[in-house]
Amino acid sequence: MSKQRLTVILTVLAALMALFAVPAASAHNSSSAREDLGDRGLRDLGALRGLYIGTAVNMDALSADPTYRSLTQSEFSSVTAENVMKWETVEPQRGVDNFTQGDRLVRFARRNKQSVYGHNILWHNQLPGWLTTGVSNGTIDKQALKSILRRHTLALVGHYRGKVRAWDVTNEIFNDDGDKNTPATWRDTIWYQNFGTEYVEWVLRWARQADSRVGLYLNDYNNENFNGKALAYYNLAKELKRKHVPLDGIGVQGHLSLKYGHPDPGEIKATLQRYTSLGLGIAFTEVDIRIPVLTAETPPTAEQVTEQTRRYRDVIDACLAVRRCNTFTLWGHADKYSWVPGWFTNPPEGYATPFTDAYVAKPAYWTLREALAG
Ligand code: XIL
Repeated sequence: MSKQRLTVILTVLAALMALFAVPAASAHNSSSAREDLGDRGLRDLGALRGLYIGTAVNMDALSADPTYRSLTQSEFSSVTAENVMKWETVEPQRGVDNFTQGDRLVRFARRNKQSVYGHNILWHNQLPGWLTTGVSNGTIDKQALKSILRRHTLALVGHYRGKVRAWDVTNEIFNDDGDKNTPATWRDTIWYQNFGTEYVEWVLRWARQADSRVGLYLNDYNNENFNGKALAYYNLAKELKRKHVPLDGIGVQGHLSLKYGHPDPGEIKATLQRYTSLGLGIAFTEVDIRIPVLTAETPPTAEQVTEQTRRYRDVIDACLAVRRCNTFTLWGHADKYSWVPGWFTNPPEGYATPFTDAYVAKPAYWTLREALAG
């Protein structure tokens, strides 16, 4: 067993002991066919498999909605801030840090014996207005931008040192082009425009400097298949390793949609294994599986629900089949607060999480439990 996985098991076992004090969420559907799974939720079952089971947390829902809060506690051993650790939130004015909301999440996690996954250090979205404006009007030049990036990395990672187990150091740095033999091109962001490809190495080194033990991940969507993006990550990771740049893993977001064909489970597993052959860990960081519908109010068909269930199962099975896959995080656990309906409108998509608007556990939830119990 790897040291990493042993640490996960020990941490999560400790968490389990505290867990029994938490009242079970009332939302669980208890049909008799499911009774043999016992009372163990995702969190407990994941612990037995040495796997963190996570969710992205919406801080408003966490304070306002007791059912949401209770499920967040009982079903998950890991939490990710859906928004509040992003740059626009943590440095709203230049040089002025605000970690208030992120700290709230860290306190919640500590009370519930949960681990925190950090999202994210560098992205091209949800940047502070002062930064994007400064770069576009020329008041922030290349050199200033580099020191701003350095300061941000040291401040964020330093603030959460010892409190966050791993960071998405970069997020979505490649395009969706290329193919299985041609690596994807670099995304044209302010980082790439100003620094070429070198910024990745800088941010990894600064993050390591700020926290010598935290996991450092490169995170993206559409990198779970043998495509150009997955090849770009493999090549980049190999090159970083060769240069002894600190890097611990690849974050696989796992935002999937039924509007695309059914992914080949063997290909997902093999893609993960290609990353781990470099000695890297894998974290599924943002899993959700969207269902396209005619209008936002149209419920999914029975066939769509079945297909969604199969895909959830394939994804978690791929993670369970790969020894160094250490995390399975959902991008929210309840449709009620999912980002999907607000972002995917043409065609409308929704119903992407394992719990309905009314907190009824879907077949997707039960298949995750079965996979973990199996
Ligand atoms: C999304 C959040 O869920 C939304 O609330 C926010 O408005 C936009 O960002 N990939 C990521 C996440 O890495 O940070 C995104 O989160 C979803 C896509």
